[in-house]
Amino acid sequence: MGETKLSVNGKSLRVNAPAEESLLSVLRNRLDLTGTKYGCGEGQCGACTVLMNGRATRSCLTPVSAAVGAKIVTIEGLEQDGKLSPVQEAFVEEGAFQCGYCTAGMIMSATSLLNETHDPSEEQIVAGMDGNVCRCGTYPRIVQAVRLASRLAGGRS
Ligand code: FES
Ligand code: FES
Repeated sequence: MGETKLSVNGKSLRVNAPAEESLLSVLRNRLDLTGTKYGCGEGQCGACTVLMNGRATRSCLTPVSAAVGAKIVTIEGLEQDGKLSPVQEAFVEEGAFQCGYCTAGMIMSATSLLNETHDPSEEQIVAGMDGNVCRCGTYPRIVQAVRLASRLAGGRS
């Protein structure tokens, strides 16, 4: 157990956690950032997705020691000055969730996708979101939401 310094949602934080503890566990259990969900714990569902340096990352498979020095963003960090991010706004607008358990991970993966590809085709959206599972089957609305988010963020699709 040692002190680990993390950058989460623009804040510099210190946690006392074993180096091998998962980033997901640290976020949820030590930092009370419970928007990030535990699904499978094995890298298969995407519920635990956060951004590390802008890229979608499975926090269940990431030891906290591997997150040192990275800019971590969770679902709680997307809103800026009380305004939802374009992806959050689009998911609300399109009603792209039912139970909502997968939604934070979906939004983080979509944010990562749009960071890399500003105007993705439907095929690119489907491929980019492929690692995120929605047990409620809201995939068509999720794809619609990512398309809308691309427009809201200034893409052309
Ligand atoms: S909980 Fe991390 S991928 Fe399922
Ligand atoms: S909305 Fe229920 S798992 Fe996706």
